[in-house]
Formats: sequence, C-alpha cells, structure tokens
Amino acid sequence: MQNFQLYERASTTEKSYSRENWQGGYQSLTEEFDYWIDDIEGEIPPELNGTLFKNGPGLFDINGQNIHHPFDGDGMISKITFTNGRAHFRNRFVRTEGYIEEQKAGKILYRGVFGTQKPGGWLANAFDFNLKNIANTNVIYWGGKLLALWEAAEPHKLDPQTLETLGKEQFDGVLSEDEAFAAHPRFDPHCEQNNGEPCLVNFSIKPGLSTTITIFELDNTGKIVRKNAYSVPGFAFIHDFVITQNYCILFQNPVAFNPLPFALGMRGAGECIKFQPNQPTKVIVIPRKPNIAKEGNKNGMQILEAQSGFVFHHANAFEKDSEIVIDSICYETLPEVEAGNDFRETDFDALKPGQLWRFYLNLENNQVRRELIESRCCEFPCVHPEKVGRDHRYLYMGAGHANSGNAPLQAWEKVDLQTGEKQLWSAAPHGFVSEPNFVPRDMPKASSFANRNGDEDDGWVLGLVYDSTHHRSDVVILDAKDLNKEPIARLHLKHHIPYGLHGNFVNEVFV
Ligand SMILES: [Fe+2]
Repeated sequence: MQNFQLYERASTTEKSYSRENWQGGYQSLTEEFDYWIDDIEGEIPPELNGTLFKNGPGLFDINGQNIHHPFDGDGMISKITFTNGRAHFRNRFVRTEGYIEEQKAGKILYRGVFGTQKPGGWLANAFDFNLKNIANTNVIYWGGKLLALWEAAEPHKLDPQTLETLGKEQFDGVLSEDEAFAAHPRFDPHCEQNNGEPCLVNFSIKPGLSTTITIFELDNTGKIVRKNAYSVPGFAFIHDFVITQNYCILFQNPVAFNPLPFALGMRGAGECIKFQPNQPTKVIVIPRKPNIAKEGNKNGMQILEAQSGFVFHHANAFEKDSEIVIDSICYETLPEVEAGNDFRETDFDALKPGQLWRFYLNLENNQVRRELIESRCCEFPCVHPEKVGRDHRYLYMGAGHANSGNAPLQAWEKVDLQTGEKQLWSAAPHGFVSEPNFVPRDMPKASSFANRNGDEDDGWVLGLVYDSTHHRSDVVILDAKDLNKEPIARLHLKHHIPYGLHGNFVNEVFV
C-alpha cells in the first residue's frame, strides 16, 4: 500500500465549529412528520430510487426531565424515499413498551445503560435492573421485514411504509424473550453456504465473568439458518464486528466492569466500564464454516492479541494471502461516560479522536500488526455493499473538518486505499454530519458488480446534515466519485433531525 498523505484542506489553527451550534442537534424532536420535500437545491438524480432508513435517539428528555446520554434516547426512525427525482420524508418513534409507558406517565420510569436515572436519587434506582429496550441504534430491511435494532435485546418490527411499530421480532421463536441481537449486522452479498445468495450475519453478547458470543446467520427470507454460541474469558463490551467469507471477527476491547455502583443506583452500567490501557485488545476470530476449524481446536475459534485500543466501529474485513485485513476506527482509550457530566457540554479537545487503522491478522503465527491510515478524527465508516467481506478499494466515513485534533463530525471523507488519495466534503462551520451511506448507481443489478472493474465508487454518498444556522437538517447527496465537489443536491427538511446513529439504503421505494 502506498503511503498516505494527510489531506491539507482544513486549517488547524481556528475551531471549525462552536459548541453552541453543535448543541442544537441534541434537541428533542417530539413531532412526527409526513411530507414531500419541496425545498431543494440542485437536482435529485432521477436514477436514485429507493429508501434511506435511519435510526437514532429522538428524545433527550422525557417531558422536560433530561436523559443523561444520547445513547439512552428513545429510537426514532427517519425514512427518506427517493422516486423519479422526488423525495418524501416521514419519521416515527418506535413504540417500545418503555416509550409508551414514559410518554403516558410524563416522566422517566427506567434507568438507562448510559447513566439516565429515575428521579429520586440513588435510593430510587438501587437494585433496579429493569432496562428499557429503546430500539435506537440501527434500522435494517431484511427478509421483507423492517427492524429497529438495539444491541441488548430483540429487534422491533415496523411497517416499512407507515413506520408503525408491529411488535418485537423473535424470528419464529429462535430468539427468546429479551434475548440480545446486536445492532451491527453485516450483509454478505454472496454467502457460500447459501449457494451464493445474500445472507445476514449478526452476533449477540451475553457478558459476565466469561462472555457468551452467539453468531446468527439469516437467509434472504429472514429465517435464522445458523446459530452457534462461543465462550470467551472475561467481560466483553463489543458493539460491532466484521465478516469475511470464512470468518467472523470481534474485537474484545480491554475494559473492566465493576457492577457495584450500578447495583447501588449510583451510576449507569455503561459508566461502570473502565478502559484498561495496559491490557491488549483481544481479537476473536470465529469460523463461519465448521469444516475450517483447525485440528485439535474443537470450535475453531482463535484469539489473537493486538495493541491496546478501543473500537466501536469497523469498516470492513477481507482475506488476503494468509492474512485477514480489517479497517476499523480505533481510539487510544474508551471515551468514558462521566457520571456528573452533561453530554451537551462535551469538551472535544479533552477527548482522544477516533482514527482509521488497518489491522493485519496472521492466523498461522497469531501475530497482529496495524498501520494508521487516517489520523484525522473520524467515525461511521462504510464501503460498497458488494464489497462486504471482500477487498474494498474505497471507504467513506464521517470526519472532522480539521486534519488533526478531536472535534464533532462536520465532513464526509472518502479514502482510496489503493492510491492513498483522500477527498473531503465539509459542512463546517455551521453544519454537522451524521453517518454517510454509500449507494451504488447500479444497486438493483448489484449482483453483477463483482464482475466489473473500476466502478466501485460509481454512486452517491448521502445522509443527514444538521444546519445550525436554520436549526433544521438537510439530506445531502454527493457524487461518490468526487467528494471534493459541491453536493449534487441538498434537500432542506422543515425541521431538524437529532444526531443519529445508523441506517441503511434499500432498493424498495416505500412511500
Ligand atoms: Fe454503532
């Protein structure tokens, strides 16, 4: 791989944002909308047809009682449908049991994993382990079902047209009541075990003194066709994973969990996790096919050790020669949740940035090496959907405007892993971006993509951008071939969408 040149477009001497502007994206959106978007700069490409679903916390307070961390906010789905050069917007809260109860009561009734407490101090919270399935992390469309995901419990099923909540999804009873199903499934576009048909691979974590990792594989009808459990030593906090055609790979970040302050009602469970800088990151490699298990190693699982670091999100993984290559956003330490702090007052300069690293796993000698690809602060990476588990050339992600330091995400960046070229579109100083999605131009015929060359970036990068000047959000569409160019189209919504987490684009036009 060639050496990477830092992209020198942004100045590092002046801040590209103000905290007051950034805070506007963390205001609750209580209203639910349903309208055709008619305030548009540029033109929506007529060949861009399909639906972008996004999920994220919509409420940061319950009737004026503030929640402690955005990750504790109730899930709200946004749907942007593109059809013949027009676009339609709709948003709905996921009607989880907790959402319905709390809206009815007009107050916080549940503790949140990331520190939200019921009113009344520690006495009111002690020994209450009843958490709310907030369905706020991702939204996928698979096997004809739209599912809102939250990693600690089962998905909620929604109507893809109306976004009405239809109930919890347990996949014909394969999941038990409240069984976890992570919020970061990977879509294998051509699964060898399913005769080359697409397949969804996901995992779940059951933490404890040792941790149970369960791997699920679903065929394209939405049925769980494989489910296998593995045990690894120690506590694990694993949010995301990656797949190759033969393996699932999970990073067990070096953390320790002290449950006492949580049990005593003084902190949320997430605030009891402490990063262990002197411990290695453990890289867990699980075969997807039973016949590749090594002799004498019953389930074929291998655990390798890498330098200490914290990973929330991976971009992709693939097998090359005798190695597994993984691109991930890695932090020097876990950005810890402090019990007394208000997330709205985050001091970005005091936190370490996420940076893009490439990891190389050698399964023969159990060695892991890594190289820094992008030192600019970044998060929310993605690749072409046909490249999941395969060698990708291009990667897209949210990034800081400045090329060093830590900051809110204000830009979308494209990295060419072959040439080292980097491109950046920035919404600074008044704009703040959420996760970008890459949509291939030929998505409906994507299965033929593997036979083509040179067009991996033929498509669009799109997503939501909060415009603090007008306190509203835009849907921004960029030409993925050249992120340095101005947007192809900027669709002004009538309101803001709070900073979201994850979502997916699907070919189906749901209006
Ligand atoms: Fe995530």
